[in-house]
Amino acid sequence: MTLTEPPVTESPDPDDRSSNPSTARPFMEIAEARLSRRSVLAGGMLAAAGFLTTSVVGAPPARAFTGGGSTGTTAGSLLGFEAIPPSGLDEVVVPDGYSARPFIPWGTPILGFFPAFRPGTPSEGVPTGNTADEQAQQVGMHHDGMTYFPLASGDRGNRHGLLVLNHEYTDEYYLHQGTFVAGYEPRTAEGVRKSQNAHGVSVVEIACAASGEWQVVRSTRNRRITASTPMAFSGPATGHELVRTTADRAGRRPLGTLNNCGNGETPWGTYLTCEENFNGYFRVDGTLDGDSAALVKRYGVGGDRNGWAAHDPRFVVTPEDPNEANRFGWVVEIDPFEPDSTPVKRTALGRLKHEDATVQIARDGRVVVYMGDDQVNEYVYKFVSAHRWDHPRFRGRAQSPLDEGTLYVARFSDDGRGEWIPLVHGERGLTPENGFADQGEVLVKTRLAADEVGATPMDRPEWTAVDPDSGTVYLTLTNNADRTAPNGPNPRAFPPDADGRRVGNKWGHIVRWDEDGGDHTATGFRWDLFLLAGPGDGIDGSTVEPEDAFGSPDGLWVDPDRRAWIQTDGTQPNGANNQMLAADARAPYRAEPEVRRFLTGVVGCEVTGIATTPDRRTLFVNLQHPGEDGGSTWPRLDGIETPRSATVIVTKEDGGVIGT
Ligand code: FEO
Ligand code: CA
Ligand code: CA
Repeated sequence: MTLTEPPVTESPDPDDRSSNPSTARPFMEIAEARLSRRSVLAGGMLAAAGFLTTSVVGAPPARAFTGGGSTGTTAGSLLGFEAIPPSGLDEVVVPDGYSARPFIPWGTPILGFFPAFRPGTPSEGVPTGNTADEQAQQVGMHHDGMTYFPLASGDRGNRHGLLVLNHEYTDEYYLHQGTFVAGYEPRTAEGVRKSQNAHGVSVVEIACAASGEWQVVRSTRNRRITASTPMAFSGPATGHELVRTTADRAGRRPLGTLNNCGNGETPWGTYLTCEENFNGYFRVDGTLDGDSAALVKRYGVGGDRNGWAAHDPRFVVTPEDPNEANRFGWVVEIDPFEPDSTPVKRTALGRLKHEDATVQIARDGRVVVYMGDDQVNEYVYKFVSAHRWDHPRFRGRAQSPLDEGTLYVARFSDDGRGEWIPLVHGERGLTPENGFADQGEVLVKTRLAADEVGATPMDRPEWTAVDPDSGTVYLTLTNNADRTAPNGPNPRAFPPDADGRRVGNKWGHIVRWDEDGGDHTATGFRWDLFLLAGPGDGIDGSTVEPEDAFGSPDGLWVDPDRRAWIQTDGTQPNGANNQMLAADARAPYRAEPEVRRFLTGVVGCEVTGIATTPDRRTLFVNLQHPGEDGGSTWPRLDGIETPRSATVIVTKEDGGVIGT
């Protein structure tokens, strides 16, 4: 490997491979069944593919104009900006009337000695990059899910707050560039520590000056949480045999958080960070059996992607000490206002490759958390707490409403209905005979429990979001290369590509549902497809207009005006850069929502993570892994040309609400 170019990875995303042996009916088959019925009305495959068009009986169009091509602002449109074209540029583009500025890139000093970022250009054998200890005092790599917590009430809270953000993984090439110049060998003990310190979460106090410029505050509230920060377990799997290790025989004190993907926030002011692709960080030595073998297989544990196992025995799974991997795959709750607080892995929310965690308070005050498991053919979940969130028992936070409740997994039916199946020990086959000795075991083995009850395999569940006005829940399904051969008018199962590779559901789609009676604790719901991504004009079955073309929807947020903000991570039509679009979530079921492209990212990045100030006049969006395959020097701050993940601050030049 040379220092002049980043490595080319063969398979871009480990989530593209299934580890689910379930034979339950895949979600797209069910969707197809619905589509095929509509196609009888609409007449033929292309019409079926465009089933969301105005020709569908009883579904008034939400789109304010038709005519394919106009991207202008339309009177009465919810989307008050002119759509921008797709981009291949190495710069961020936003609509006229908006500005976008990079902020807190990887390596920004926030703690301790505030070490400046050093890009690590090798020079005559002198290591010039930051050390592992310095990385622990700087913003981590690969920005992802993010929340803005105001630090004051009223307007001051719009100008002063805590920005809390996840760092999903690392590009080891850029991380170590120049740090270890002897033949570029990141896989030393120091290199492993630097990599671990680039993961996790950053808490950054920020303030907006009178000039309108946001700056990092040198505050004692700033914090880095990394792959080795001491944590606690809570909930039913705490101390369970399956989370005990030789280093923590009580199974109560896990270390660190990994692959922090999407996020959530609670009404009691805490941040939820979601552990996604933890499985790839371990090496499996020796022959496992029983539960250990089943768990390693079902969660795909192995691969040692960053070479940590050679220098940190914690990341080696052995028959004698098999459980460290079981201590990841959780939702972790962090109190961002208390820098000395211990992050807590809330086991009642299940163990999976958590993408994000959308918290919704039900009418009766109980806490509902919607969660996707991002891998091919995995499931969508929700947690419903046993008690209302503001019950006096939770004062002082010794106990959390996230520790007691019911975890459900979704089963979709082809008649537009769905049900939430509880994963409760002793019920529906979750019994000792089937390998579930108690509720703790159900939770450590969440995927296996969901298999047992017949959950519906989905096309890589990513982010969820709840429309704050209607209560409709949205879920991005990013793609599914394993999608098998279609039948009839199925618009989303593609034949093999020119090289004979199966491409399945290549572009992804967004599904939405409404809980029965508008009650988020309900066990039944009705569902519909919001949109099918793709090149547009029905090509490959896409239901968007060609000028709105996009693929691989991932990040998602529905704002209070009911704009659904869609962020992409993956293949885009015509090879364009990843992007962020807004869609009109007021579109009724079966109507085609208006979509407009709002932001285009730089070369090689994904767009992910979205937060705003309470007044929604400042928008924070993350660009992750620019130049992952080369070709980017963004964000080019302080003359540094190493591509770095960073937050983008978007404002409207007239000071208005973003999107209006
Ligand atoms: Fe972390 Fe599924 O993206
Ligand atoms: Ca994601
Ligand atoms: Ca993704």
